[in-house]
Amino acid sequence: MSKKSNNQQPENEQTTDVVEQPLQDRRNLLKAGAVLVSGATLDLSLSSAHAASDDATAAAKLPPQKGDRIQVIKGDMKDQFIRADSLELNAIAVEGFPYDPQADVLRRKNRLNRLLILRLDPAEMDEPTRARSIDGLLAYSAMCTHRSCTIKSWMEEERHLRCHCHLSEFAALSEGSVKGGPARKQLPMVPLGVDEEGFVIAVDGFTRKPGGAKK
Ligand code: FES
Repeated sequence: MSKKSNNQQPENEQTTDVVEQPLQDRRNLLKAGAVLVSGATLDLSLSSAHAASDDATAAAKLPPQKGDRIQVIKGDMKDQFIRADSLELNAIAVEGFPYDPQADVLRRKNRLNRLLILRLDPAEMDEPTRARSIDGLLAYSAMCTHRSCTIKSWMEEERHLRCHCHLSEFAALSEGSVKGGPARKQLPMVPLGVDEEGFVIAVDGFTRKPGGAKK
């Protein structure tokens, strides 16, 4: 009896092994599958993140587009969007960059996109300039057309924007036409409008290519 009993035990053990091994294999396979799936999901997430990052970089280099707002980058209004009633009449211009509200991207990776925004009296403007203004607000390229210095000075009495590098002057009331200094090309403008939320927006791109010869 005892012999028979001893002989049956290994058979039972063997039977158990046969049943458990495939189960273990299946568990291992499921685990491996889960790792593969999570790895593939991670790859997809990373590639989506890279694609989104590439899109944002490309958008940040684009010139001003129709519908872009203008975000101030310096001073008391830093980070604010320009509104129709934002600026003081005849005061020095504020600096900003176009901002794409759809993509939530400030187009700041292109230095030629730097803008000067100021408010002047529409009654003093010539007709083409007035047509590109909204409530007296005007947007000019901040890049001097002589050698691409950033224009910083404001001659309030003359309503001229002046470049400190070689003292070129541009008439803000008449399409940025050259009034002095070595620049030969007028300052490009971005025609402005206002959206339904009261934000000032570009209604078109630059009127001409911004910047000048390299410094
Ligand atoms: S770069 Fe502006 S005047 Fe020369």
